Amino acid sequence: MTEKQIGYDRRALLIDGERTLLLSGAIHYPRSTPAMWPGLIRRSREAGLNTIETYVFWNLHEAERGVYDFSDRLDLVAFCREAQRQGMHVILRIGPYICAEINFGGFPAWLRDIPDIQFRTINAPFMAEMERWVRWLCAYLDPLFAGNGGPIILAQIENEYGLIAPTYGETGQRYLGWAIELGRTLEVGVPWVMCVGGMPGAIETINGFYGHEMIDDHHATHPDQPSLWTENWPGWYDLWGYPHHTRAAENVAYGVARFIAAGGTGVNYYMWHGGTNFGRESMYLQTTSYDYDAPLDEYGLETTKSRHAAALHRVLLRHAATLLGAGRAVATPLGGGLVGYRYAHAGHTLEFVCNDDRTTAREWQHAGRSVLVAPRAVLIIADGALAFDTAVVAPGDRISRAMQPAGPYLAFACRDEPWPAERAADGAHRADQPIEQLRLTHDRSDYCWYSTTLTIADDEAGAGTLVLGGAADLVYCFIDGVCVANGPALLLENRMRTDGDLAAFAGEVRKRYDAMFTYDGDDTFVLRFPLTLPAGAHRLDILCCAVGMVKGDWQIGFQNMAGEAKGLWRPVLWNARQLAGPWTMWPGLAGERTAVTAGADAAGWRAPDAARPLRWWRAQFSRPGDDAPLALDLAGMGKGLAWLNGRLIGRYWLIAATGTSDAWLATAIIDRGVGEPTQRYYHLPAEWLADENTLVLFEETDAAPETVRVCAWH
Ligand code: GAL
Repeated sequence: MTEKQIGYDRRALLIDGERTLLLSGAIHYPRSTPAMWPGLIRRSREAGLNTIETYVFWNLHEAERGVYDFSDRLDLVAFCREAQRQGMHVILRIGPYICAEINFGGFPAWLRDIPDIQFRTINAPFMAEMERWVRWLCAYLDPLFAGNGGPIILAQIENEYGLIAPTYGETGQRYLGWAIELGRTLEVGVPWVMCVGGMPGAIETINGFYGHEMIDDHHATHPDQPSLWTENWPGWYDLWGYPHHTRAAENVAYGVARFIAAGGTGVNYYMWHGGTNFGRESMYLQTTSYDYDAPLDEYGLETTKSRHAAALHRVLLRHAATLLGAGRAVATPLGGGLVGYRYAHAGHTLEFVCNDDRTTAREWQHAGRSVLVAPRAVLIIADGALAFDTAVVAPGDRISRAMQPAGPYLAFACRDEPWPAERAADGAHRADQPIEQLRLTHDRSDYCWYSTTLTIADDEAGAGTLVLGGAADLVYCFIDGVCVANGPALLLENRMRTDGDLAAFAGEVRKRYDAMFTYDGDDTFVLRFPLTLPAGAHRLDILCCAVGMVKGDWQIGFQNMAGEAKGLWRPVLWNARQLAGPWTMWPGLAGERTAVTAGADAAGWRAPDAARPLRWWRAQFSRPGDDAPLALDLAGMGKGLAWLNGRLIGRYWLIAATGTSDAWLATAIIDRGVGEPTQRYYHLPAEWLADENTLVLFEETDAAPETVRVCAWH
C-alpha cells in the first residue's frame, strides 16, 4: 500500500501534490451491517464518488468505560479497508462530539455521571476523557492514515463548535484551541478539518443546504484554504411525530453544481447512505430509520437522487482538470438575474450558468439561441456545449420502489410485563424523592418505573392536577393499576426550559436561532395532568420512557449537555402539595432482565387474550424467499421495541406525523406523509435473519399485532 502525502492550497486538497476534486459520501458504518458495506461502497464508487466519509461513534465503541468494542457493525478498520480496496479515500470525522442524530451526540452515556463534568468547554474531567479516547483511537487507527499507506486523507476534530461558541465565550475558544493542539500532537499526518467554527491549525469547512452561500465568507476569512463542504444535506432526518423530510434530486444537484461553480472543490453528501439507527442508538426523538432521503436509500439501494447525482459527477470529473487548473472564478452577472462563472485551463473552458431564483425561470442567450434556466438550476457548459442541466433528470434515471408483502400476517403469542406491584424487590431502589432515571438505568434501558402512594385528604378530593415537576421523555401514569394519563404525545426537538434561561442566552445565539425555533417560554419538562380522584390512599405508578438522549446543548435550552435528564427528577405534586414519598424505582422492564427479549422460555407465552398495555409479543417465521431487502410492517402497533433473534432492531412508534417542521428547513426540504404514522417499516438486515426466526415486540399501549408482517422492498 502506497503512502500518500496530503496537503492543500487555496484551491483544493492536494494528494501527492496534485489538486483533487473530492466527491465524497457519508456512510456511517454502524448504520448498516458489514455484509452491506461492499455493496454500499461499490454503488458509491459507481456514482462517481471518490471518497467515503464517516464519523467515529465513541458512544458505541466505549459503551462501558475502558472496554473497547470494534466488532461487527463497529468494525471501523474493516470498513475503511473495504473503501480502500475499492480505491476510495476516507474522511474520518473523529469529533468525538459528532452530533449526528446519535444518542448523546456520540458521547458515552456514562460521561454524564462523572462528577463536575461539563462537555465541550474547559473542564478537566471532560478534557481528560476526550484526550484519552482520541489518543487511543488515533494510535489504534495509525496504519489507516494516508501517510502510512491507508485511505484516510482528512480527519476532523470537534464538530460545529460555532453553533455553541457564543454560549461559552472566551473559555469556549480556549477549549477549541486545546482541541486543535491535541490534534496536532497526535501526528496523524493528514490535515485536520473543523466544520462551522474553526481554529488556526485546521481547515474550516462548510455545512448546510446551499454551500455556495457561505463560500465568499469562507475565502475572506481563510484566503489560504480551499472551500470544502463537509455536510451537503441531500435530505434531512426524521423525528417521531413529524413529517418525513425529503429533498428533490434536482435541488440537490443544483446545490452541488452551484457550490463548484462558486469555487468549491470538495463536497461530502451528508448522508450519502443514511441507513438505520439500530438498537437504542438514536438521539432523542430521532426515528429508527435514518433514511435521510439520502441518495442511497435506507436499504442501500440506488434512487433517482443517486442516479442524477452520478450524472452530474461524471461531468464534473471529466472536466476536473479545467476546474482545478484555474483559480477560483469570479461571479459575473449574465443579465436577466443569472450569474455566470468561467473556468479556463489548457485550452478548455468550463462555464456555469446559475439561476438562484427560487420560483422564476430565466432566459439565457447562448450561441444565438435562448435557453431557459429553471428556478434554482445550474447549466454546465463544457468547451461551449451544454454538458448538464441540474433541473433535468434523464428519464432512465428515475427509480421508484414500494414495499410489498413477503408473507402472511404473523401469528403472535403474548405475555405480560408485570406491574410494579407484582415485581420482586430485586433491582428496586427506594428513596424519599424520585431519583433521575439515567442514574438508575445508566441508559441501558429506555424504561423506569416510579411508584409511591398518593394519599388524598377529604378536602383535596375531586378535580385536581397531578404535577410532575421535571419529567422526560414520555410518561404513562397509572392510578390503582389503571392508566389515567400519558404525555406528552408530541415532543419538541428543541426543548426550552425557563424564561430565565432564555434571557441568559448570548445575543448572537439568539439571533442565529430565532428564525429556526419557537420560544414559548414554557418549561416543557413540567407535565400537568388534570385528574379527578376520590379521597383515600391510591397507588401511583409512573412508567417513564426515554426516547434517546439529546445530541446537543440547544435541545435542552442551551444548557450544557451534562444537564440531560430522563425520568422524574423534581418533586411530584398533587395540586400544590408535594408528595411525601417514599418512592420505589425499578430501572428497566422485568422482561429486559430475563430472556424474554430473545423469545426464549416457551412455557411463558400464551395465546392473546383481553387487551392490556405493557405486553410482550412473540412470533416465529421462516426466512422469506425474497432476495430484496426486508422490513417489518408494524401497522396497527403503538410504541415499543422490536427484537429479531434476540437483537434489538430499534424503537418503533406509529405516532401520526402531525408536528410542524422547523421553518428554516423549508428552503430545501419538502414534508411528506403528514398525518400518517411516522415510521411504519423497520429494516430487518439480511445478516440477522436465519432460516427460522423469532420476532419479539414490547408494546407500551394496548395495541395488538394483528396486521404485522414481513415486507420486501422492490
Ligand atoms: C449538523 C451536524 C451533523 C448532523 C446534521 C444534521 O449540524 O454536524 O452531525 O447532526 O447537522 O443531520
